This record gives sequence, C-alpha cells and structure tokens, in this order.
Amino acid sequence: MIILFFISLITFVNSLSLKQVLMAIDCGGQESFNSKEGFLYQDDQYFSGDSRVSDYTYNDVVYAGIAYTFTPRVYFTERHGNSFDYNLPINKNGQYTIILQFVELYFENEGERQFDIYIGTKRVIQNLSIIDNKHQKGSAKEVFIYIDIKEDKVFHQGQECNKGFINGKLKIGFRKGAADLPKVDGIVIVKGHNAGEEERNHLIDNWEQLLEENKKKEAELERAELEAQNMIVPDSVEPEEGEGLISFLLSPIGFGIIGFGMAVFGILMFAGENQDQKNKKIKKSK
Ligand SMILES: *[C@@H]1O[C@H](CO)[C@@H](O)[C@H](O)[C@H]1NC(C)=O
Repeated sequence: MIILFFISLITFVNSLSLKQVLMAIDCGGQESFNSKEGFLYQDDQYFSGDSRVSDYTYNDVVYAGIAYTFTPRVYFTERHGNSFDYNLPINKNGQYTIILQFVELYFENEGERQFDIYIGTKRVIQNLSIIDNKHQKGSAKEVFIYIDIKEDKVFHQGQECNKGFINGKLKIGFRKGAADLPKVDGIVIVKGHNAGEEERNHLIDNWEQLLEENKKKEAELERAELEAQNMIVPDSVEPEEGEGLISFLLSPIGFGIIGFGMAVFGILMFAGENQDQKNKKIKKSK
C-alpha cells in the first residue's frame, strides 16, 4: 500500500511537468515554497528599478480560484511598477527558456494593461496584454521566451540582446507599453527549449476536465496516505504483542501455568489409562 502511494505520487507529478527547472522566483512573495510540479519557488529577489509589491491573497478573484494552474500560490503576489528588471544568475552557456507568469486581477478587458518585455536593451515583446482570447481576469498566463547564452552574450531569435547578460546575470526588463503598468507574478528559467509550451496549451484547452481529474487524484492520494498511516500503526504494535506473549510464557508465572497444565493433562491421561485397563480386566473376566 505504501509503495502504491509513492507510485501514484510520482505519476501524478510527472504527468504535470517534466521541466528541467534551473530557477524559479515567486515575484512579490516572501517565503520560498515547492510547486505542485515539484520544483522550488524562491522568495522574491534579484530585482532592481522602480517597482512595488502587491499581495492579493485575500482578493475575491484569487479566492474564487486561479484558472490554468495547479500552483495558484505563485499568482497571489506580484511585482509591478513603471520600469523594473530581474537580474538572474545563470552560470553556464546553453539554451534556456524564460517562462514569465502573469495573472490579471484588476482589469476586465483585453488591452486595458499593455506592457513591454526586454532582454537587456532588446524589446522581445511589445504591448503584452495578460487578458487575451484565451485568458480572462483570474486566468494564469505563461509567456515562453527562448534564448541562447553563448560566451557571455544572450541571443533571442538569433539576434544578440545588448546588455542582456552582464557579470553572469541575465537581465529581464519590464517597461510601460500602451496602457497602465507592467507586472509579473513568477519567473521560471528552464534548461533547453523543450519547456512544455505545447503541454501548456493542452492544459488550457482541457482545463475543466484536467481540474476534475486533479481533484480526484488529490482525493485518492489523501486516502492512500491515510491508509498508509493506518498500515504503519498495527505493523509497529503487533511484534510487541508477540514478544509480550513469548516473554510471558518464559516468565516464572508462565512456566508455572504451563507446568500446571502439563501436570493436569498427565494425571488425566494416567487416570484414563487406568480406567481402560480396569475396563479390559472386566471384559476378560466376563
Ligand atoms: C504598442 O503601443 C504603442 C503605444 O500605443 C504603439 O505606438 C505601438 O504601435 C504598439 N505596438 C504594437 C506592436 O502593438
């Protein structure tokens, strides 16, 4: 039962994500925590520039549930401002995917907030609206940006991003666009370019069904965990009871009882044999 529990836990995690996560930041968050997919979100750090934090933990939209994510906590807090950057330490050359995580909790309509994303001085996304034809207010949105780091330079779509990689740090910028202020909820850096964008689209397109399945799986896991706990309790008690019985039988009282029992049995056997012999004698004499 315990093994079954771990197997179901592993398949549960794997079905959600096989991402090679190098680093994850919970923007605006004050404590690190593990995502449902099994990687660590660090508390907010590596930021600079003009920005503030908002905590929406007790917001109505958040309370109703963030769609398109199994780790809603990332979207409880945000960093927003006129112009700010994240400078993330990345030590090795190679291909990486930047996943930027957003949720709109204030505006109702597409385009009411539009901002730009930069790597160094290169604008890689212009007038991003968190709300779009697939994302409403309260829907988690992930934007995938594919980069290459080579010899202290960072490239996006084959073009170098000036000042995008300084002293071993990748510089991601958030700037005002056509409307209101930029904001961000989470940043995940994944090794390679196979970071799960297709799986992400699949999750969005099948969200209601996946949410149901996830609820069922969580209930099953909870039950398996309880059962596993119940299995452990009798396991640890039973050998003690067994030992207790043996040590009782070997104790003087135990010995006495066994001896008495054997003596009674012996007397009864003896008496029975005598009776048999008497009966035989009676038969013979007849
Ligand atoms: C973004 O918004 C600005 C300001 O309104 C506008 O000048 C620009 O053309 C827009 N760019 C795109 C790609 O929508």
